[in-house]
Amino acid sequence: MRAATYARYGTPEVIELRDLPLPTIGEGDVLIRTRAAVVGMGDWRMLIADPFAVRFYQGLFTIKRPVLGWGLSGEVAAVGASVQRFAVGDEVFGESPEAGGFAQFAAVSEAHLALKPERITHGQAAATPVAGLTALQGLRDVGQLASRPSGPPPRVLVIGAGGAVGSAATSIAKILGAHVTGLDGAAKHPFVLAHGADAVLDRATDDFTASHEPWDVILDMVGRAPIAACRRALTPNGRYVAVSGKLRRTAWLSMFGGPRMAGMIAKPNPADLEQLRVWLADGQLAPIVARTYTLERTADALRQVGAGGNLGAIVVEG
Ligand SMILES: NC(=O)c1ccc[n+]([C@@H]2O[C@H](COP(=O)([O-])OP(=O)(O)OC[C@H]3O[C@@H](n4cnc5c(N)ncnc54)[C@H](OP(=O)(O)O)[C@@H]3O)[C@@H](O)[C@H]2O)c1
Repeated sequence: MRAATYARYGTPEVIELRDLPLPTIGEGDVLIRTRAAVVGMGDWRMLIADPFAVRFYQGLFTIKRPVLGWGLSGEVAAVGASVQRFAVGDEVFGESPEAGGFAQFAAVSEAHLALKPERITHGQAAATPVAGLTALQGLRDVGQLASRPSGPPPRVLVIGAGGAVGSAATSIAKILGAHVTGLDGAAKHPFVLAHGADAVLDRATDDFTASHEPWDVILDMVGRAPIAACRRALTPNGRYVAVSGKLRRTAWLSMFGGPRMAGMIAKPNPADLEQLRVWLADGQLAPIVARTYTLERTADALRQVGAGGNLGAIVVEG
C-alpha cells in the first residue's frame, strides 16, 4: 500500500511516499481501506517535534510511528476473528491510537471505531474523533459542564474557538445546554458563530478576564492566559480546563491546580465515540472541511496545518 511516512523530525519536506506491506490485524482489529484522514495539530507537532516532550512518545531520535494520522474514516476491508460489530464493506470512522491514517490501509481495534453516518462525508467523519473526544471530555468530564433544569444556562468560554477542538467544543457546549462565547481572531468569528456560538471575543482586542460576568467553564486550546487571572474569571464552582499549553504549565495545573484548574489529555472511549456518532447522524454536529489533499500531497496538507488560519479541517484522501 501507499503511505506518507517520515523517518526523522523536520519540516514537511521530510515526508516521503513509500510502498509498505499491508498492516496485519489482530483478533479484535479491523483493516480499514482509508478514504480520509484528518491532518491536525497533533500530526504537526509529531512532525516537527514541538514541544520537545513529543520525543518521549514518538522516539528520541528514531521515529516510532512513521505513518501519522490519528482521525480516519473508510471502509472495512477485513476483520479479525473476534470482531463483532463490523463486517467487510461497512463504512467506519474513529481514532487510531497508534496513528497510521496517512496510508491506503490502517489496522484499528474495533473498540476505537463507529459506523460512519450516511449523511456525512468521510472527510467530516475523519475530522470528528480527535477534536470531538477532546472537546466532549474537556467540557463534560473535566469542566463538569451539565445543562441546568432551570435558571440561566452555564456560561462557557472557548479559547481558540475557530480551531479544530474549539469548533467542536463550541457545537458540543451548545448541545450540552450552555451559553457559549468563542475567543479567536476576528477573521474566524463568522466560522465560530456558524458553529453555534452565542457571542465572540477578539483575541487582539478583548480581555476575557475582564468580563463583567464570570465563566462556569473555560476550555483553553491556546494555553497562554495567566493562570491566576483565569481563576479569578471563574464562578465559585467554575472550572478552567487547559487542553493545550506548555508542558510545565499543564503539569503544574494537573498537580496543584485542584479540581477547578486542570490540564487534560483526551482518552479513547467507545461510549464517547458513539455519542459523537449520534450527534453526527442527527446533524447536531457538522464539522466543516476546509480543504482536501490527495495522499501524495500529505506534505502540503501538513504545511497548511502548520501555517494556521484555517477555517475547518484539513483532510488527506487516500
Ligand atoms: N489535550 C489533548 O488531549 C489535546 C487533544 C487535541 C489537541 N490538543 C492540543 O490543543 C491545541 C489546539 O488544537 P487544535 O487542533 O484545535 O488546533 P487549531 O486547529 O490550530 O486551533 C487553535 C485555534 O486557536 C487560535 N488561536 C491561536 N492563538 C490564539 C490566541 N492567543 N487567542 C485565541 N485564539 C488563538 C488559532 O487561530 P489561528 O489558526 O489563526 O492561529 C486556532 O483557531 C493544540 O496545541 C493541540 O496540540 C490537545
